[in-house]
Amino acid sequence: MKLPETQLALLEATGATDRTPVEALAEELGEDPAAITRAAFELEAAGLVDVEERAVEDVALTEEGERYREAGLPELRLRAAAAEAGADDSPAEMGRLVGQSGLEGPEVDIALSNLARKGYGEIDGGAIALGEDPRYDPEADPEAAALESVAAGEADAVATDVLDRLESRGLIERTETTARSVTLTDEGVTALMEGVEAAETVGAVTPELLTSGEWSEVEFTEYNVEADAETVNGGKTHILRQTANRVKDVLVGMGFREMEGPHADADFWINDCLFMPQDHPARTHWDRFALDVPPMAELPADLLERVEDAHRNGVGSEGDGYHSPWDADFARAVALRGHTTSLSMRYLSGQAAGDLEPPERYFSVEKVYRNDTLDPTHLLEFFQIEGWVMAEELSVRDLMGTFTEFYEQFGITDLEFKPHYNPYTEPSFELFGRHPETDELIEIGNSGIFREEVLSPLGVECDVMAWGLALERLLMLMYGFEDIRDVHGTLCDLDLLRNVEVVY
Ligand code: PHE
Repeated sequence: MKLPETQLALLEATGATDRTPVEALAEELGEDPAAITRAAFELEAAGLVDVEERAVEDVALTEEGERYREAGLPELRLRAAAAEAGADDSPAEMGRLVGQSGLEGPEVDIALSNLARKGYGEIDGGAIALGEDPRYDPEADPEAAALESVAAGEADAVATDVLDRLESRGLIERTETTARSVTLTDEGVTALMEGVEAAETVGAVTPELLTSGEWSEVEFTEYNVEADAETVNGGKTHILRQTANRVKDVLVGMGFREMEGPHADADFWINDCLFMPQDHPARTHWDRFALDVPPMAELPADLLERVEDAHRNGVGSEGDGYHSPWDADFARAVALRGHTTSLSMRYLSGQAAGDLEPPERYFSVEKVYRNDTLDPTHLLEFFQIEGWVMAEELSVRDLMGTFTEFYEQFGITDLEFKPHYNPYTEPSFELFGRHPETDELIEIGNSGIFREEVLSPLGVECDVMAWGLALERLLMLMYGFEDIRDVHGTLCDLDLLRNVEVVY
């Protein structure tokens, strides 16, 4: 029998009785473990060895875990400072203890919550007293001991619940790997006894092999396409972008066309066309990102005039205006759009794509910018799914039906609707969906039927129903994310980005 060199060496190094780990064989043979693994699978396929696979958990300290192992767990340091300050007799002032323990930044909160959890201390007002009935002896804190064990490679000796706790504290990281070990089969033993020779095989064609013509003589190593390979993480479209693309496909499938337009736009398109009074709170610097750029000179003069007239005098014989100041310069000022309804205005007015005849349907899935306060459901920029349908005789039923059909394609079937107010739509309603993990109702969109005060200046004579939905909230419902920052920005988990599948 002839075998490629590596396989032969492996066969000879493998025992018939004891299982030898692949790593040990690789070291003994001075080969790369991946090459030995490959050879082991080849030999297994030939029936000469048996490869046993076992899932093993590797436990390692995170950077924070390593820091605490050296400096002590924050709660133990705080407890020590409290003990030193005599807090068993009378509570000691917290600020002083924090200073003495050398805790900094987020470590202070970490110390306080774990101090309370372990009963090491009682926090009352701004003072700390030593806990009367601590859960552990601070000298033998199981989490501190576990950090040492993990560092020494003895995680096996640590109780699972302690490891779980350290993991949830972000102090250790557990990874699953596959450990492989090899033994000779009876056939392997027989083959060795009968004698195996090394076959010269070539793993890859080289320029030398080609120019010398030697390639036609040599034997090439066979590929094993089933062997485990190292994971290579290539580039990938971000989950948010993938979902945006999916939303676009769904809307195109429903007969919509895509709108395009500027991120920085005149207030005219963002607000005035929408019958938003110029003194509306959303138009102050609290909410919008104003830009220090020249005002937008080229606004359609006739439209500007009709919009001003709607603001001042209202529309129709029964109509009434806002009786508040309206200034064309204010309308020309440029800001980052707070919604993509600015695009809808550009299209409905005929500015963007020429005059439109009903029926028409348009959408965009684009970024909008709001000067909000960051929290788990709010970002300063997010993606809005804007859309509108222009047709004779539309009703709220049409709007609800459109949403039901749209969200169904993402598996969301429990929409709820709530009456709402927008200066530009009547009636208006907000949309809610149930969060799959927390069961909370979360707002996912805002919608309505455009008022005459909006449509008449634009020159639209039929009904238009419209909406703005939040792409990130759709993601929260689809995947159960609880914090919008899990899918946006630097807190986004790399593993998630690598592994998540946006399925159709
Ligand atoms: N502009 C609204 C928002 O950002 C969404 C909306 C668009 C509502 C069109 C009604 C009509 O919340």
